[in-house]
Amino acid sequence: MSTKDEFIELLRSTNREGVEDLLEGLEKIGFFTAPASSTHHLNIEGGLVQHSLNTCKAALMVWEGMIALGPGLEKEVERDSVIIASLLHDVCKSDIYFRSVKKKKTAIGTWEDSEGYKVSYKNFPMGHGEKSVILILCNGISLTDDEMLAIRWHMGAWGLNLNSYEDQRCFDTSLKLYPLVTIIQVADKLAANIMERSGEELDEL
Ligand SMILES: [Fe+2]
Ligand SMILES: [Fe+2]
Repeated sequence: MSTKDEFIELLRSTNREGVEDLLEGLEKIGFFTAPASSTHHLNIEGGLVQHSLNTCKAALMVWEGMIALGPGLEKEVERDSVIIASLLHDVCKSDIYFRSVKKKKTAIGTWEDSEGYKVSYKNFPMGHGEKSVILILCNGISLTDDEMLAIRWHMGAWGLNLNSYEDQRCFDTSLKLYPLVTIIQVADKLAANIMERSGEELDEL
């Protein structure tokens, strides 16, 4: 099964109303062909859907593992919410990468052309997690509060405006109120830093 088919099957498994409209919208904004980043993890065509699927698999493992430690979590966090928030957390990246040719230094110090991506936020400069939430809602499915907040704050402290007391309080409150927020943050990091770590990236450290 292709990555895209696996993504679609998992999303449909939630039976959330509007999933078909959302899939159509994702296709239109380029979600299924976009890379996951311009220079880091999965900077290739289709990288974004692969990263979303990896995040979902990691999130389900974390969710199941935490339930095994203390069954109370099953009542607080629904499996469908884990799937929806993880698969859709980075929808905001669908329309920000554009193909470009960059100069890259070789191991012997010469320069060569390297095909890659440049980043532009001109399509909808709304931010990161907050843009994902809005795009999902505008494309036809509803989200629960914990799903919205898990997507909004999935970057953890990296996405936090440290000059804003209100942002800090909202972030902190979301973490305490909704375990899904922590699950998605952790799963995103597990996917990017473990599942998607490439030899090339390690060489460049
Ligand atoms: Fe992200
Ligand atoms: Fe991500």
